[in-house]
Amino acid sequence: MNLKNDLILRAARGEKTERTPVWLMRQAGRILPEYRKVREQLKDFVTFVKTPELAAEVTVQPVDILGVDAAIIFSDILVIPEAMGLPYKMLEAKGPWFEKTVKTEKDVEQLRIANGDDLSYVTDAIKLAKKELNGRVPLIGFSGAPWTLFAYMIEGSGSKTFSQAKKMLYTNPKLSHALLQKITDSTINYLKAQIAAGADLIQIFDSWAGILSPEQYNEFSLRYISQICDAITLVPKIVFAKDAYFARKAMSKIKCDVIGLDWTMDIAESRTLIGLNKTLQGNADPCLLYADYDVIKRETEKMLRAFGPSRYIANLGHGLYPDTEKDKVKFFVDTVKEFSTEVR
Ligand code: CP3
Repeated sequence: MNLKNDLILRAARGEKTERTPVWLMRQAGRILPEYRKVREQLKDFVTFVKTPELAAEVTVQPVDILGVDAAIIFSDILVIPEAMGLPYKMLEAKGPWFEKTVKTEKDVEQLRIANGDDLSYVTDAIKLAKKELNGRVPLIGFSGAPWTLFAYMIEGSGSKTFSQAKKMLYTNPKLSHALLQKITDSTINYLKAQIAAGADLIQIFDSWAGILSPEQYNEFSLRYISQICDAITLVPKIVFAKDAYFARKAMSKIKCDVIGLDWTMDIAESRTLIGLNKTLQGNADPCLLYADYDVIKRETEKMLRAFGPSRYIANLGHGLYPDTEKDKVKFFVDTVKEFSTEVR
């Protein structure tokens, strides 16, 4: 189906756009009263994610309510560990929790390589969301980066340091590589299934990239992200590695189309390090949206000027915080649209 608004796809491929496209990480979620209302129907997060009708409904909400230029399928990165044999729970106010974790080589051997059929609840949600979007904007599919999923599968929960996961890299690199390869193979199958179901582009979230050294990052993270980018050829690929300022140059060499930046990364310096062959995405601090409207406008325009009009997708530098006012989020989106239309 032809898309009515394909700004984000054109920006990803480096083509000219009439204005800067904009979407927000975690746009579908708790900042929207409309999301909270649907979510009340099914309190358990994992069950909610596995209900395609509801997942599709909250996927489309931000397009209607915020006017963003893309939808992102409502799911979680942790569906892959589950499909491989490690089920998770989402604890209220605490985050993810795994009953079983990976400790030994036998544990790795026992994990399955997931395929698209294991995650049919996600591909069904994608098909429904595409139908509801009816070509208005593209749909973003996503996965966690192998390293970030590895971190949860070893640690068993969120952590400030992920010291257990890092300990595994130092004490058993062989097990680490075997597990990372299994996650990578599962992720490639999963992303291909998302694309077959209708995802128009994909993003890989490496939320815990920033706790590795540059050398470890190359060996245990980027190598596997690069395998995924080589395997996914049909749609544009966004790689977002949180806090990995040290990896920008290395990331510019892999076969992705877009590199996501967070707010700690200087925009001009990032462009110099990455070069002109990638689109950049980001990078407003989500906390900017706590500020008054005039500050949001000033800082957003400053960001847009620094990135310039070409090869750029506006976004935050990480996901929206749940206590952000919806009107301010909409104001950020509108500011991007107005400013980038006026200056061209
Ligand atoms: O709008 C979107 O961006 C799409 C949906 C989406 C969710 N999770 C829904 C969600 C996406 C893209 C994710 C990715 C995700 N999940 C990441 C990578 C991005 C990042 O934020 O760094 C990570 C690390 C996870 C794992 C995860 N899921 C954590 C750590 C938590 C708990 C912390 C939190 O923010 O609440 C979740 C839960 C989660 N995933 C929620 C949502 C809307 C909140 C649960 C709820 O609604 O009750």
